[in-house]
Formats: sequence, structure tokens, C-alpha cells
Amino acid sequence: STTVERDLKAAIRTIPDYPKPGILFRDITTLLSDAWAFRRTVDEMVQPWAGMKIDKVAGIEARGFILGGAVAHQVSAGFVPIRKKGKLPHKRVSIAYSLEYGLDEMEIHEDAVVAGERVILVDDLIATGGTAVGAVTLMRQLGAEVLAACFVIDLPDLGGADKLRQLDVPVRTVLTFD
Ligand code: PRP
Ligand code: HPA
Repeated sequence: STTVERDLKAAIRTIPDYPKPGILFRDITTLLSDAWAFRRTVDEMVQPWAGMKIDKVAGIEARGFILGGAVAHQVSAGFVPIRKKGKLPHKRVSIAYSLEYGLDEMEIHEDAVVAGERVILVDDLIATGGTAVGAVTLMRQLGAEVLAACFVIDLPDLGGADKLRQLDVPVRTVLTFD
């Protein structure tokens, strides 16, 4: 791995047995609080799409909001939130999904994207891919073209990135934890 990868990896904190026994939780708050690491991570996330026309960045609650806002600014796109059930005020579309440690439901405003818009999906981490597959499904229901999904961290053993690629979504991840 490169020096940058090693330095960014060192900025992530690992918490055993959070939020449930047996989960090794990769905590990005320590990376976000480090000015160099935050900027460098966002630069790495958007690198393949620098200079391309992107209409919207869709960020997944909660850590995808922090990263997605920075990514949207960097690529001069709008930002749209994909939220946990019950948080969005306007007309919305919903989908149930499963993730590494549970079951949940997420929603997006039905007018967050217009059919044909080019969208990049952003979150902090992909594990089983349940969350990201749900988000891609919502975006496609609204007629968006999902150009890519970007994450800081891939947990490849859990297979999420492969699931997205099977849905023809290009996947960009900055760091891998085996
Ligand atoms: C985490 C993470 C991803 C998802 C990844 O969020 O930020 O969104 O789980 O897991 P998956 O690939 O197995 O679906 P979490 O549901 O803990 O929500 P939070 O950001 O609101 O804490
Ligand atoms: N960190 C953050 N979110 C997660 C993790 C993790 O280790 N595993 C599944 N979702």
C-alpha cells in the first residue's frame, strides 16, 4: 500500500463489539477531525469523476452526509439526503433493507432527483452492501443514472462492493480492511 493509504488507515479508530458483540466497528470520526486526512480522503473519493458533469451527490445518513456534502462541493453538484424512516418532511419513496447488524428502512424525497440526472452515491463504509443496494434501488426508482458509489472503507469479506458491481454500479473505495 502507498504512504497515503497507510496514513489514512492510521487515522481510523477500531472499536471492538460496537454496536453489537462480534462487530469490529471502523470509526471515521478520528479521520474527519484531522484536516489533512479529511481533505485527502474526499480528493481520493472523487478522483475518477473529477471534471465530469455530475448533477447530484446522494449521501446516506448519517456519515454519508458529512462526506457527501464535501464531495458535492468538490464536484460542483447538488446534495440530496437519503434518510432513515420518518425524518423527511415532503413526499418520499421508501425501501426496507438489511445491513451488517440489523434491519431498517430508508427514504428519499420523490423530487430529490429528476429522471435522467447523473448521481454519485456516497457513504463512509460498505459492509454487506444492504444499505448501498437499497440506495441504488431508490435512485433508480426515481430514474437517476447512478454513475458510481464511493466509500471511504470497504470490508471486502462481507461482499457489498461485489453486489453493487453486479448491479452495474462502478465502486470506488479508498481503504480496505480485511
Ligand atoms: C453503517 C454505515 C453504512 C452501513 C454499511 O451505517 O455507515 O451506511 O452501516 O453496512 P452494510 O453495507 O452492511 O449495509 P448505520 O446503519 O450504522 O447508520 P448510521 O450512519 O446512521 O449510524
Ligand atoms: N463501521 C461503520 N459502519 C459499519 C461498520 C463499521 O465497522 N460495519 C457495518 N457498518
